[in-house]
Amino acid sequence: MAEPPKLPNPLGLLAELTHRCPLGCPYCSNPLALDPRDGELDAGIWARVFTEAAGLGVLHVHLSGGEPGARRDLVDIASHAREAGLHTSLITSGVGITTRTMRDLWEAGLDHVQVSIQDADAVSSDRIAGHRGAFQRKHALAAEAVRLGLPLTVNLVVHRANIGRIGGMVDLALKLKASRIEIAHVQYHGWALKNRSALMPTAEQVLRAVAEVEELRLKHQGRIVIDAAAPDDHARSPKPCLGGPGRRWLNVTPSGRVLPCHAAASIPDLEFWNVRDHSLADIWTRSPAFSVFRGTDSHGCRCRAFLPPHPTGVTGLAAMQEDTGYAYRRM
Ligand code: FES
Repeated sequence: MAEPPKLPNPLGLLAELTHRCPLGCPYCSNPLALDPRDGELDAGIWARVFTEAAGLGVLHVHLSGGEPGARRDLVDIASHAREAGLHTSLITSGVGITTRTMRDLWEAGLDHVQVSIQDADAVSSDRIAGHRGAFQRKHALAAEAVRLGLPLTVNLVVHRANIGRIGGMVDLALKLKASRIEIAHVQYHGWALKNRSALMPTAEQVLRAVAEVEELRLKHQGRIVIDAAAPDDHARSPKPCLGGPGRRWLNVTPSGRVLPCHAAASIPDLEFWNVRDHSLADIWTRSPAFSVFRGTDSHGCRCRAFLPPHPTGVTGLAAMQEDTGYAYRRM
């Protein structure tokens, strides 16, 4: 009898340390029901998770949220990740982390910082984030990361309100001395579904943006890496995510559930195992959610396949061109 195909090693771990966040982004893809603070994994469990992840072959951990700066023990957690031998990135809104904490993280061995910025224009950026003054604080944190010699990535989530200013965003990232900019279109999961008709760009806007990114890559070649994920909503078929379903990434939520994809929490009836009850290796090889994700011949996005489409469709949503204000996420 033929041997079953060998399971690949996971390479990356998204460690969602908390769902708490000072911003209120309308495109937040975290689930509607957030994990409460008193249900968050403590630093000791995170240390075990990092050791088990390294044992499985994981190379890279993203300390994320919510806003990871909301954790008072963030520096301890980052130290544990480095002790486990993982390349450690901080994924931050830039709000809620002091320059002192950033320095402590650097001393703990942090390898990389990613700061999200909502727009090239300060007023628009603060409006999208739902937090006055956030733009300036993001700048200050990015500057401190660079001053410490940490590689900086700027993350931009694209939607109708900022899709015409991608060039300005790349200029801003260069001004901040980022070595990389990551441009991602909104993924309509979790809270973002509440704002879909206010966020969805038209197909023409998306096509223009894709062409502009190509031009910017040529223009800034050798100065900054521009990574851009093509948007699925206007594509003929959704692309495979994360190196293939359940094949390269693990996502651990603040309360310890392990998902094959960040957005998979929104899929009804999937059973996720928890690191409080199982080892990471057990979850990777045997848990129901990972088995379901790997279980078909298709390699396209599983969340797209399992979640119901919006009744009006993409064209209908884009045609609405609603600008009636966002439903901000508050915790
Ligand atoms: Fe979850 Fe694509 S967004 S697999």
